[in-house]
Amino acid sequence: MHQTLLTSIENNVLTITLNRPEKLNALNKNVFTDLDKALDDVEKNPEIRSVIITGAGSKAFVAGADISEFGELNKEQAMAMAKRGQDIFFKIERSNKPIIAAVNGFALGGGCELSMACHFRIASENAKFGQPEVNLGLIPGYGGTQRLVQLIGKGRALELLMSGNMIDATTALQYGLVNYVVKQEELLTKARSILETINSKAPLAVAACITTANAVYDETKNGFELEIKEFGNCFATEDMKEGVTAFLEKRKSIFKGR
Ligand code: COA
Repeated sequence: MHQTLLTSIENNVLTITLNRPEKLNALNKNVFTDLDKALDDVEKNPEIRSVIITGAGSKAFVAGADISEFGELNKEQAMAMAKRGQDIFFKIERSNKPIIAAVNGFALGGGCELSMACHFRIASENAKFGQPEVNLGLIPGYGGTQRLVQLIGKGRALELLMSGNMIDATTALQYGLVNYVVKQEELLTKARSILETINSKAPLAVAACITTANAVYDETKNGFELEIKEFGNCFATEDMKEGVTAFLEKRKSIFKGR
C-alpha cells in the first residue's frame, strides 16, 4: 500500500496512478518514496510483466516537482533532491520490464521528466508538455535537459527549455515525444493493448531491447558490442529455441522468460 500512489495489476500489467489530484499530482518527497518502492516491487514480482504510469484525474499527469518543497532548500540540498529524482528515474529507464507513460493531462517540469524516463509515451488529446522551470529561475533537475534533447533534438529542446513554453499533444506527436495521441477515455485501453502485444513476446528479448537501446545514450557503453553480446545471450535461452521451433511448426510460441 502506498500513500500517494494507486496500484493495480491486471493481465500482468501494473498500473501505477500518481494520486494527488488536488495538487495536480505534483512530485513531493512522499511520491518519490512510494515510487521507489513500487519500482522495486516491479523488479521482484514475477506477476508484473510491464507497467503503465499515469496520473489521477482528467487534468494532470504530473504538474511538476512540488514547488512548495523548494523554498527552504540550499544549494547542497537542491543537488541531493535532483540526485534522488534522477536515481529513481534511472530505475524506470533501466528497468528490465517495459514501463510506459499514459499522459492524461499536464506533464510539466518533473512530470515531463517522469514521462521521458519511461520507455515511451502515449498522450490523451488534452495533454500538454513543457519544462517551465525557467519561470522559477531554475532548470530541470530530474534528467530533463538530457532526455528532452535525446527525444526531440537539441533545437526544439532548447526552445522549450529556455522559453518555458508548453506544447500540446499534437505538437508532441509531431516532435516524436509521444507515440500516439488518443481520446482521454481511450488512453489506458490503448496503453494496455500495446503492452499486451509486448507481454506476448519473450521477456528476456524484450529486456535486451531496453538495455541495448539505452546504450545509445550511455558513453560508458559500446552499443554495437553490447548488441552482439545480447544477441548471443538470446541464443542461450529456452525462449529463443521455443520461438524458432514454434515458427517452423506454424504455431504460437509459449515463452517462459528463460
Ligand atoms: N507544485 C505544487 N503544487 C502545484 C504544482 C506544483 N508543481 N502544480 C500545481 N499545484 C497546485 C496548485 O498550487 C493548486 O493548489 P491549491 O488549490 O492548493 O492552490 C492546485 O495544484 C491546482 O493548480 P492551479 O494552479 O490552481 O491549476 P490551474 O488550472 O490554474 O493551472 C497549471 C494549472 C499546471 C498551469 C499550474 O498549476 C502550474 O503552472 N503549475 C506549476 C507548473 C510548474 O511550474 N512545474 C514545474 C515545477 S519545477
